[in-house]
Amino acid sequence: MLMASCSLQIFFMFLLLELACSLRWGGVEEVSLVKVGNFSKVEDAVNFHIYYGETFKVIKNALDAHSYLLLQNNTRIASRTKYCTSRIKSFVIPLSNYSVDTDSFPVSFLELVGALGSLKGITSDTVASPCVLKLYQDGQIEMFNKTDDEKLAQFSAHFSSDADQRPVCNFATFAPFSEDTPLQRAEWIKFMGAYANEEVRANQVYSKIKENYLCLANIKNNRTSFKPIVAWMQYSDGVWVFSKNEYKMKYMEDAGGEKLNANKNSYNVSNPDDQEELHAILCTVEVVIDETPTFDPFNYTIATFLQNLNVEDHSCFSFLSNTSLWRYDKRIQNNTALDWFNVAVSQPQLVLADLTEVIFPTGNYNTTYFRNIAKGEEPSDIGSETCERDAFTAMEPTIVACG
Ligand SMILES: *[C@@H]1O[C@H](CO)[C@@H](O)[C@H](O)[C@H]1NC(C)=O
Ligand SMILES: *[C@@H]1O[C@H](CO)[C@@H](O)[C@H](O)[C@H]1NC(C)=O
Ligand SMILES: *[C@@H]1O[C@H](CO)[C@@H](O)[C@H](O)[C@H]1NC(C)=O
Ligand SMILES: *[C@@H]1O[C@H](CO)[C@@H](O)[C@H](O)[C@H]1NC(C)=O
Ligand SMILES: *[C@@H]1O[C@H](CO)[C@@H](O)[C@H](O)[C@H]1NC(C)=O
Ligand SMILES: *[C@@H]1O[C@H](CO)[C@@H](O)[C@H](O)[C@H]1NC(C)=O
Ligand SMILES: *[C@@H]1O[C@H](CO)[C@@H](O)[C@H](O)[C@H]1NC(C)=O
Ligand SMILES: *[C@@H]1O[C@H](CO)[C@@H](O)[C@H](O)[C@H]1NC(C)=O
Ligand SMILES: *[C@@H]1O[C@H](CO)[C@@H](O)[C@H](O)[C@H]1NC(C)=O
Ligand SMILES: *[C@@H]1O[C@H](CO)[C@@H](O)[C@H](O)[C@H]1NC(C)=O
Repeated sequence: MLMASCSLQIFFMFLLLELACSLRWGGVEEVSLVKVGNFSKVEDAVNFHIYYGETFKVIKNALDAHSYLLLQNNTRIASRTKYCTSRIKSFVIPLSNYSVDTDSFPVSFLELVGALGSLKGITSDTVASPCVLKLYQDGQIEMFNKTDDEKLAQFSAHFSSDADQRPVCNFATFAPFSEDTPLQRAEWIKFMGAYANEEVRANQVYSKIKENYLCLANIKNNRTSFKPIVAWMQYSDGVWVFSKNEYKMKYMEDAGGEKLNANKNSYNVSNPDDQEELHAILCTVEVVIDETPTFDPFNYTIATFLQNLNVEDHSCFSFLSNTSLWRYDKRIQNNTALDWFNVAVSQPQLVLADLTEVIFPTGNYNTTYFRNIAKGEEPSDIGSETCERDAFTAMEPTIVACG
């Protein structure tokens, strides 16, 4: 750990040294220095860091091993210097325009920062945001094919959640999904804040969200009842798999649930031994979250689950007798884009509040992302008509009543 942070420091010393040299080369003595002014400090996320110089910022992104050099648009260095090497890319900020790879991109971060005004390009219209859809319909945002390099190059930056990218100069990897805990993922708002010169806003939003999340996570410490066992499971090609993603396990622990400890991870329903064991395991489970992907969420009901399970005798399934069988596709756009991969990432306090209701139902809280298919709850469609605020203003995080 010590070694890692030390080599990181050394790397940055070299980077800053190199920058200092190029700044002098660029004739820094003539430049009227513009202070960066506002700072974000990354406290929880591990895959990016932000460093501040006098007129520039550096985002070090562990995902693509790049350093993004952000140069203020009113400095001379910004007009003279352009980096596009295997380790460093430069961007002039605030970005006059940018595009995002909307195939899987949590645009809610842009909304919380208030940066939709310069979003000018998207790569698909499957996006779980009413306001982004509205801007697209109004012609403020254009859609283009993400393999169209000529088009891509016209934007000051192109953000994608996919770290495995082509070496294009304006690509930046925005990777909240790479983090292991819900709060670490949410802290990526500071990454976007740095690009938009909205550090103050990003800090405020993150600390509100974190405070709310930690308060909700504290409720479990006051519970005296037993911890229900929760299974996150998904089906594909005849096989059920229990998922163990760190961030999901963290959510569940923070909500006061108990992790399922199965002997193995995947169970083939056509194999009698597997089926027997799956049956037995599910008899110990109090809450099931069915993550099975589907092209037809409105038609994914309890019947679909039971059909995929292929177990005849349900008598010992307390998650059925107690109606606790859930999916996180309650909010969905055009049957495809789940809000679970959008707002749920930037506002983890809402997911934790949902899961707390899922695991310890009160009936007094309407979940945002989870629907109970054991009670026949249906998904709801996200469309541009539900964009209720001025899309160019920042979205406020939703703070849940706590304690
Ligand atoms: C610092 O933040 C304040 C408040 O958000 C903003 O008005 C100001 O322009 C920012 N300064 C810089 C240099 O980004
Ligand atoms: C720098 O960005 C600000 C805010 O977007 C803009 O008002 C200003 O015109 C830009 N300045 C230059 C020199 O591009
Ligand atoms: C994007 O372009 C590629 C290559 O030109 C093509 O194969 C693909 O079908 C296009 N995608 C869309 C959505 O038009
Ligand atoms: C984005 O901004 C840059 C710099 O201001 C400009 O040259 C470019 O034409 C803009 N691109 C689009 C697609 O608006
Ligand atoms: C937990 O219980 C203590 C003592 O009853 C109380 O002061 C506290 O507010 C409770 N915390 C929460 C999060 O409900
Ligand atoms: C599941 O088991 C069946 C029957 O043994 C077999 O034909 C099938 O290939 C298995 N599926 C997988 C994904 O292993
Ligand atoms: C809905 O689901 C049922 C059961 O899973 C299936 O038999 C039916 O074909 C589906 N209907 C549509 C319209 O996809
Ligand atoms: C059923 O759910 C209730 C809460 O709604 C809980 O108190 C009870 O223990 C659960 N029963 C089983 C068997 O899981
Ligand atoms: C929904 O998706 C379908 C299939 O991809 C597409 O043809 C249709 O235009 C989309 N509708 C809307 C409202 O986005
Ligand atoms: C939950 O939603 C229903 C239907 O929209 C509404 O009538 C009810 O008041 C809501 N309950 C809470 C606790 O917000």
